[in-house]
Amino acid sequence: MTLDTLNRPLKDLRISVTDRCNLRCVYCMPKEIFGPDYKFLGRDHLLSFDEIVRISSSFAALGGTKLRLTGGEPLLRAGLPTLIERLNELEGIEDIALTTNGLLLPRFAKALYAAGLKRVNVSLDSLDDARFGAINGMGVGVQGVLDGMKAAAEAGLQVKINMVVKKSSNEQDIVPMARYFKDTDYILRFIEFMDVGSTNGWDFSQVISREQIVQMIHSEMPLEPIEAHYEGEVAARYRYKGTNREMGIVSSITQTFCSNCSRARLSADGSFYTCLFASGGFDLRALLRSGISDEDLTAKLGQIWSKREDRYSDLRREDSDSKSGNTKPKIEMSYIGG
Ligand code: GTP
Ligand code: 5AD
Ligand code: SF4
Ligand code: SF4
Repeated sequence: MTLDTLNRPLKDLRISVTDRCNLRCVYCMPKEIFGPDYKFLGRDHLLSFDEIVRISSSFAALGGTKLRLTGGEPLLRAGLPTLIERLNELEGIEDIALTTNGLLLPRFAKALYAAGLKRVNVSLDSLDDARFGAINGMGVGVQGVLDGMKAAAEAGLQVKINMVVKKSSNEQDIVPMARYFKDTDYILRFIEFMDVGSTNGWDFSQVISREQIVQMIHSEMPLEPIEAHYEGEVAARYRYKGTNREMGIVSSITQTFCSNCSRARLSADGSFYTCLFASGGFDLRALLRSGISDEDLTAKLGQIWSKREDRYSDLRREDSDSKSGNTKPKIEMSYIGG
């Protein structure tokens, strides 16, 4: 097992398979910036499936067990089920998941499940069409996403919902979302609005904290905290008292979780990042295309991980001067995959 400088093992790899998306969420790809003239990655800049499989295989050789496919919108990448099938064959990989906006799930859910995918996390920020349409920047309504979740569940996939909470945008949706999803098989997770990238205009005053979210829900539907599923789980879990239903909160602003972060990230063009907030990554695509052997690739990944010191969210929380976010350039969410 490879440990970083803070004794954290490398367990998860989040792989972005495209930087494109069919939505323009205000907190991720604001349409003023990601407009018609925006230059997305060209085809030959993207890692091929062969290249993704090679990197994943080296990751597994270092003790990695979990893969998550992200984007942009990962279902826009042609042939995704084929990639999943190949990743599923890798020795050591125990869990493959997908983070998606859900709109293409009615078309792909069955093929994804057949390829070996176990679970999907679907983004949905409101049950109100007007508010959701404004947040996703494209006027897309809620029903398409609900249809996607249903298709996923019917195909056999476990479904979680991600709701990014932003003050004065969708705070009034917190309790209705909890109420609605409490009686479904989908697990809802609230996500504190994060200072990822440099385009979403983040500042601390737009964050609704985990504590505030819990209070809002608890007064109508009493909650109790429950144990994490595994060491280093991103979302803190809560049970609705007297039921076997749960929800989660990802609090990367107010209650950070860097101390046991075991996640690396691979961008669609093959840069390897050891933190979501890194300002630079390591160009694995160049290495692969220069003909590196599998052994050397594994050794290189291990070496990068063993030097890792990242704990960005912890540092931001500890630094009371950084309420307006860090001014260093950061990677965009749609590029690194969240
Ligand atoms: P599971 O627990 O495996 O279901 O996945 P997950 O919650 O880690 O994945 P998902 O892609 O659904 O991410 C949910 C939210 O957590 C997104 O807003 C991510 O950007 C955020 N997130 C995931 N990993 C990290 C991390 O290492 N650091 C920070 N700060 N946020 C993260
Ligand atoms: N803050 C918090 N979460 C975000 N996501 C995208 N941008 C942000 C942000 N600025 C979420 C998406 C998706 C997940 C991968 O990350 O909604 O569910
Ligand atoms: Fe697309 Fe997801 Fe970003 Fe929204 S949050 S723009 S759905 S990648
Ligand atoms: Fe991991 Fe970086 Fe997120 Fe901290 S901020 S949990 S180190 S990815």
